[in-house]
Amino acid sequence: MKNIGVLISGGGSNLQAIIDACESGILKGLARVAVVVSNRADAYGLERAEKHKIPAFFFNPRDFNANSAYCSMISGELRKHKVDIVCLAGYMSLIDPCLLNDFKNKIINIHPALLPKYGGKGMYGHHVHKAVIAAGESESGVTVHWVNEVYDSGEIILQRKVPVLINDTPEELAARVLAVEHIAYPEAILKILKQG
Ligand code: GAR
Repeated sequence: MKNIGVLISGGGSNLQAIIDACESGILKGLARVAVVVSNRADAYGLERAEKHKIPAFFFNPRDFNANSAYCSMISGELRKHKVDIVCLAGYMSLIDPCLLNDFKNKIINIHPALLPKYGGKGMYGHHVHKAVIAAGESESGVTVHWVNEVYDSGEIILQRKVPVLINDTPEELAARVLAVEHIAYPEAILKILKQG
């Protein structure tokens, strides 16, 4: 049984999809969510974790005078819970080299577009969907990838395409992409577990 640590900043619907996959879906018997860490106090994902009796923590980045000190705190919590894989699920911050080093080749992220397009600094959440629509793309999608020190540039684990419809608003496109994220993230985790 592998232990997953999930880092969040918001609603945590991808966290929920991972929890559900572990409890009763494709990850059942293979993995469990061992700990959840948020960098925002009001992240609804913290409540989702508590409902499933999963230890959940908010650490305030403002309480630490360096990003590396903040990451050491997170890293310590992940290690305490014997985390094998770290999943970023709507975690809106660059991962510090200290965390990358402590969890080498163990951190993955989900991005709401077909990387390498529409990735990089500033490309997160609704900014991504706005940019996709503004560029007149006919398709967007989901990418799950390994995390390195540059935003959204690590090796791709899995991608799924989603159509962009005429007159889509960023909100409509975001909802269509998010529904596919909820299937794709557990699939990507299963894929890396199978690879050992
Ligand atoms: C998801 O669409 C995720 O792909 C995106 O934030 C949303 C979080 O939703 N992540 C990024 O844009 C990271 N660059 P959730 O909190 O409901 O899982």
